Amino acid sequence: MIRLDCVSKIFKVSEPGSASKKDFHALRDVSLEIENGSIYGIIGRSGAGKSTLIRCVNLLERPTAGRVFINGVEMTSLKEAKLRAARRKIGMIFQSFNLLANRTAFGNIAFPLELERWTRQDIADRVHEIAALVGITDKLDQYPSQLSGGQKQRIGIARALANRPDLLLSDEATSALDPQTTKSVLTLLKDINDKLGLTVILITHEMDVIKEICDSVAVLDSGEIVEEGPVLKIFTAPIKSVTKELLAHVLRTRLPDSLAGLEFTRERGNRQADVLLRLSFFGNVAAQPIISDIVRKFDVDVNILAAQLDHVRTTPYGTIVVQLSGGDREEAIEYLLDLNLKAEVMGYVARSGDITY
Ligand SMILES: Nc1ncnc2c1ncn2[C@@H]1O[C@H](COP(=O)(O)OP(=O)(O)OP(=O)(O)O)[C@@H](O)[C@H]1O
Ligand SMILES: [Mg+2]
Repeated sequence: MIRLDCVSKIFKVSEPGSASKKDFHALRDVSLEIENGSIYGIIGRSGAGKSTLIRCVNLLERPTAGRVFINGVEMTSLKEAKLRAARRKIGMIFQSFNLLANRTAFGNIAFPLELERWTRQDIADRVHEIAALVGITDKLDQYPSQLSGGQKQRIGIARALANRPDLLLSDEATSALDPQTTKSVLTLLKDINDKLGLTVILITHEMDVIKEICDSVAVLDSGEIVEEGPVLKIFTAPIKSVTKELLAHVLRTRLPDSLAGLEFTRERGNRQADVLLRLSFFGNVAAQPIISDIVRKFDVDVNILAAQLDHVRTTPYGTIVVQLSGGDREEAIEYLLDLNLKAEVMGYVARSGDITY
C-alpha cells in the first residue's frame, strides 16, 4: 500500500521586480491511499500539481511537510543510501521518454541493471525477457532516433520494469503518442499490471485512459485533492465542478448538438410546463424498464430526446435526456430520484408540445 499523509510542497518563487522570494503552495495537505496492484489515476488542470505529487512519491521532489509510506516504509525518513535503494524499486516513465540517445534499446534497458552491478549474463537474460514482455525484441539493436514514439515508450517501460519494481509512476506517458499507439501502450500497461501485480500511478489529460484502465482516480485542483474514489463512482457521479469540467467530454453532460436549438427555461413558468430531465444510470440499472415504469405508474408521456451509452472498464453507464409531459411529473421525478440513478431537472419547456428539434 502507498500512503501519503498530509503531504505539502512549497516552492520558493521569486517575484518580479523584487529580491525576496514568495511561498508557492504546489501541494496542500494531500492524503491518499493506493492499494497494491491497482492502477491509480491522477487528473487535474495544467498546473494543478500532478507532476509534483507523483515526484513526491519517489522523493524526486522532497515534500515540505507530510509523510510518504510505501509498503510500510516511511520514504520521507530514509537517509540517502537507503532512499536510493528504495527508489530502485520504483520505475518511472515520461512523456518525453527520456532515453539515452547514444545507447541502443538494449543499452537503455540494461542501464539500471548495470548501475545495480548485475552480471553481463543476467543483464542479457533480463533484457530479453522484458523486451519480449513489451514486444520489442526485434528492436534491441536500434538507437532511439531509429524508433517510433510508441516503440520508444515501450523501451521506456521496459527500462522502468527491468529492475522488477513494485511501483510504476507514469507522468503523461502517452501524451506524445497518436490515439492508436496510446491504446496499445495502455493495453501493455494494463497487461503488465495484471501479469506482474505491479501498482501503477498515472497522470493523464486523457479521460478515456482513466476510464479504460484505472481502478481509482484522484482529482487535484490548486494542489489539493478535491475528489477521490473508484473510477466508476467519480465518472458517473462527479460532485465538484472541476471534475465535471474535466469529464465533460467523456460524460457528454452537455446537450448534444442536435438539441442545441432547444429552447427551455431554468424556471418553471407554469404548472403545465414539460420537464426536461437528464437521467444518468450505470451498472445493472437499465433505462428501458424505468421509462415504461414511470409511464405506467404516473401516466406521464416520455419523449426521449437524446441517449448515450458508454463503458467504464466493463460496466455500462449512460445518459438519456427526456421530456416529460402530462401525468404526475413531480411524483415521477421523486420516484426516479429514489432509484439507483441520477435524475437532474435541466429545465422546463413552456408549453406542452412546443419542442422542435
Ligand atoms: N521547481 C519549481 N519551482 C517553482 N514552482 C514550481 C516548481 N515545480 C512546479 N512548480 C509550480 O507548481 C505548480 C504545479 O506544477 P506541476 O508541474 O506539478 O503541475 P501539473 O499538474 O503537472 O501540470 P501539467 O498538467 O501542465 O503538467 C505549477 O504552478 C508550477 O509552476
Ligand atoms: Mg505535469
